[in-house]
Amino acid sequence: MPNIVVVGTQWGDEGKGKVVDVLSRHCDAVIRFQGGNNAGHTLVVDGIKSIFHLIPSGILRPSCRCVIGPGVVVDPEVLLGEIDKLIEAGRPPEPGQLLVSSQAHVILPYHCDLDRLRERALGGQGIGTTKRGIGPCYEDKVARRGIRLGDLMHRSALQARLQVVLPEKNRMLTEWYGAPAYDLDELVDRMVSFGERLAPYLGDAIELVHGVLERGGSVLFEGAQGTFLDVDHGTYPYVTSSSTVAGGACAGAGVGPTDIDEVIGIVKAYTTRVGAGPFPTEVQGESGERLRRVGQEFGATTGRPRRCGWFDVPLIRRAARLNGLTRLAMTKLDVLSGLPKIPVCVRYERDPTDGSPIPVYTEFEGWSQDITQCTSFEQLPPACVAYIKELQELVGVSIELISVGPGREQTLLRGSFFTT
Ligand code: IMP
Repeated sequence: MPNIVVVGTQWGDEGKGKVVDVLSRHCDAVIRFQGGNNAGHTLVVDGIKSIFHLIPSGILRPSCRCVIGPGVVVDPEVLLGEIDKLIEAGRPPEPGQLLVSSQAHVILPYHCDLDRLRERALGGQGIGTTKRGIGPCYEDKVARRGIRLGDLMHRSALQARLQVVLPEKNRMLTEWYGAPAYDLDELVDRMVSFGERLAPYLGDAIELVHGVLERGGSVLFEGAQGTFLDVDHGTYPYVTSSSTVAGGACAGAGVGPTDIDEVIGIVKAYTTRVGAGPFPTEVQGESGERLRRVGQEFGATTGRPRRCGWFDVPLIRRAARLNGLTRLAMTKLDVLSGLPKIPVCVRYERDPTDGSPIPVYTEFEGWSQDITQCTSFEQLPPACVAYIKELQELVGVSIELISVGPGREQTLLRGSFFTT
């Protein structure tokens, strides 16, 4: 299989985890390149549900090496919790199977505090973050006052770094927000103990990934969140703090654009968003409730109800450009079964008063059949096939994988690409 970047084309929660799990059967390595435990990937294998926030979705394939890349921000306690969960489930990750870049930045407890306290102080004007410390950690990385996982291996160097960084954090916490300060020695002890447990998994992700590439193996670059949460290209300021577009894979995983052969965009058959920010095709009332209920649209990380709406063609066309999409994988098509008509936004008009986008909808015929047991594209009802074909025509990118349920087996493939 070629080297593939997998990205979300909407606002996250498109079902990337399941698609990565399916594709990872054909891959030698899967590497996460950005984000942190703000992501939540739900996998259902043999009827058993697993949720991962940091560990790449290839972890349930023993032959696939899973890498947390340099561009990821890592809360060590969360990562250790996920490793422990795998051990409890009888699937302990061997150090050779899971490699965590020692260049990845550490989410420290004060990052989580600042994220939560800032959001609280903003009241209704907040971003609606996951409060996992993602933004404050990336801020420190760019400001060159971050701590990297490799730093947790060396007590005296870590102590010296935190001695410089911590006073400013403590001042912010205590004076601005009235929150308690951190004790330097306690924080160092805690971080060093995390470092000791993580040591067998830490290493040079660049060596591993390039080793696989040089041997002719295939690497899957696993994106988190979605295109319109990208810090540059998303609905700023209602975005996350990393580059979620395919270009981010190069910087975050340490490869060049010429190492990448394909970019697969994951798109839900409708649209959802968690947190605040623009969402032109959002639907309120019974229709929105139905999508939320049937699609079980509640955050895998925070449990928050997701905002729901219809498929937005102009949005996905833009995602196709921003990511250089070569193919699309459509998820949760089964959620639309039973709707007599399915509205799709085909273009926007501009509100004359404030210029905001007003979606213009076309209604597609629905289908009443349950499609969750379909095992091939040909078995889908004609109206369902028409929905897929029309959307790929409107977006201009072919839809080659269709997911009709959470299970691995509920995945329909078109074309030869995914099986070669
Ligand atoms: P942060 O990434 O926690 O800073 O949150 C910033 C915005 O991105 C908020 O609107 C979050 O709800 C959203 N967000 C972050 N991660 C995810 C995700 O994995 N899925 C969906 N939304 C996310």
